[in-house]
Amino acid sequence: MEAGQAAIDAGARALEAGSLVAFPTETVYGLGADAENPAAVAAIYAAKGRPQDHPVIVHVAPGASLDYWCADIPSEARQLADAFWPGPLTMILKRAPNIPDAVSGGQDTVGIRCPSHPVAIRLLQAFKGGQGGVAAPSANKFGHVSPTTAQHVRDEFGADPRIAAVLDGGQSEVGIESTIVDLSRLATHGPVLLRPGHISAESIAAVIDQMPARPDALGADPSAPRASGTLESHYAPHTPVAMQDTATLASTLARLHGAGRKVALIHYSPLPAVHAEVALPATPEGFAHALYAALRAMDGVGADLILVEAPPQDGAWLGVNDRLRRAAHGSSGIVHGLINNTPTF
Ligand code: TXA
Ligand code: MG
Repeated sequence: MEAGQAAIDAGARALEAGSLVAFPTETVYGLGADAENPAAVAAIYAAKGRPQDHPVIVHVAPGASLDYWCADIPSEARQLADAFWPGPLTMILKRAPNIPDAVSGGQDTVGIRCPSHPVAIRLLQAFKGGQGGVAAPSANKFGHVSPTTAQHVRDEFGADPRIAAVLDGGQSEVGIESTIVDLSRLATHGPVLLRPGHISAESIAAVIDQMPARPDALGADPSAPRASGTLESHYAPHTPVAMQDTATLASTLARLHGAGRKVALIHYSPLPAVHAEVALPATPEGFAHALYAALRAMDGVGADLILVEAPPQDGAWLGVNDRLRRAAHGSSGIVHGLINNTPTF
C-alpha cells in the first residue's frame, strides 16, 4: 500500500535525525540519508557494502535551488532542469564549497536530481521544510540488482537497524536508473553521458544543442568522474546471466536441456518452455519497467543460468542493453560450459 502522509512525515523526521529511509522513485528505490550529515551518509555506504569513494546522488524537491548545492553552474544545467525535472535525469556539476565531500566520495562534483515519484516529492518537501537534500543510491547491496518495489528493498536488507523505514510507492514506473549527464567539465569536454537511461542523449541534445558523448568515446581519462554504474560488473543477480540473440536462442535452449541444465529465461519472443520464464514486453519502456523484477524472480528459482533474449541494438534500447551487459559481465563462457560440463566459474 502506498505510504500516506503520516508515514512520509515520520520518514522525514527519521532522516532529519540521521537515520536511513528507503523511498520510491520513478526509476528505482533509493536508500536515503541527509546529504549534509556525513555520519548518515557513511551509514548508507556501510548498509550497502559500498566503497567509500563512490559518490551518491543528492535528491532535491521541485523548485530547490541548484545554487545551494552546485558551483559554476552552466546555463545548460538550468535548461535541462527546466526541461526534465522532476524526472529521471541526474546532472553532475561542480560541488558548492559548503556541501560535505562525503556525498561525492571526495570528488569536487555533485550528482543532483529531482525525482518525479509523488512519494519521493512529498518526502523531499517534508524533509527540512523542502530545503534539504537526500543522498540516495539505489537501495540494494553493492553490485546487486536495483530494487523496483518496497518488497525488493526489504528482501535486500532484512531487518537492518540502520534503516528506520521503507516507504512504499508501488512498482517504479521507469524501472532502470536515471540518465546521468556530466556537465562539470562542459567547457573542455562538452556534455558526457555517464549512464544511459529513459531520457536519451538525443532528448538532451534537443534542449542544449550539444550531443552528449559516451565516456568510452573519450578514452581513458583519469580526471573523469567515477561512477559505480559504470563498473563493468553491476546490476547482477547471484545466478550467472547470459544474453543470446533471438536467432540462436532456440537451439541453445535445446542443447542446455539436453545437458540437463535448468534455465530461467527472460524473453520477448515466443520460445519453447523451460524451467522458469518471464515474458517481457517487446518495447524498451515496457522491458525496462519489468527487467529488475524479472531478474530477481529468475534469481530465485534454482536455475543454473538466467538466459536473456538480447534486445535490439538501436538507441531506444541503450539503457536496457547497458544494464544487461553489466549484469552478464564475467559469464561469457557460461553457456558453453554448461552444455559441455566444463566448469567456467
Ligand atoms: O535513478 C537513480 O539515479 C537512482 C534513484 C534512487 O535516484 N539512484 C541511483 O544511485 O541509481 P546509485 O548510487 O545506485 O547510482 C548513482 C550513480 C553512481 O554510478 C555514482 O557513481 C554516480 O551516480 N554519481 C553520483 N554522484 C556523482 C559524481 N559527483 N560524479 C560522478 N558520478 C556520480
Ligand atoms: Mg546503484
